[in-house]
Amino acid sequence: VAVGPAPCTVDSLASAIALLIPALIANPTPVLVRGRRPIDGGRKWIDGKRVLGDGKTWEGLAAGVAAGTLLGFALWSLLGVKLTILHAFAISLGAMLGDIAGSFIKRRLSLPRGAPAPLLDQLDFYAGAVAASCILGCRWDAATLILGALVIAAVHVAANIVAYVAGLKKEPW
Ligand code: CTP
Ligand code: MG
Repeated sequence: VAVGPAPCTVDSLASAIALLIPALIANPTPVLVRGRRPIDGGRKWIDGKRVLGDGKTWEGLAAGVAAGTLLGFALWSLLGVKLTILHAFAISLGAMLGDIAGSFIKRRLSLPRGAPAPLLDQLDFYAGAVAASCILGCRWDAATLILGALVIAAVHVAANIVAYVAGLKKEPW
């Protein structure tokens, strides 16, 4: 797959998916670790609601970034994507920060942990990963960005239904 650092052009669905492999691994990993230490330490924002809530833990963050970096970089190498492990780390971290930002927004909207927030739930990590790739120098064309969002949202919905049926998630979203 023709994704490399110079120039890193993301102009097809295949290149978008290839680039985002670390994010696609990082995002679902926290569900498996059952973290206990919330990133916000139980603290509340000035609106009296939790900053992030109990669904965002340090263990989940660490596991997501570690899995996305290591497995993502390994898959990149197999697929011939010419990016470094540092890129895999940045895209994994971007995905997890996007997910955290999504929870921050949900709490500000008074949505409790686990409440559905259509589009936000599916695309917060995508936005974070795309933003990280842009910081690394990747350039996305608009059509690919939108097509990627549609495909990621559809896959996210399907994957969460599977995780729910498998008993990994409390809600099917
Ligand atoms: N998780 C975690 N740490 C993270 C992200 C996720 O421990 N940084 C775990 C939590 O157990 C969380 C589950 O993965 O419940 C699913 O993540 P997500 O759907 O993003 O969280 P929600 O529980 O739905 O909470 P929110 O309403 O804040 O999205
Ligand atoms: Mg959720």
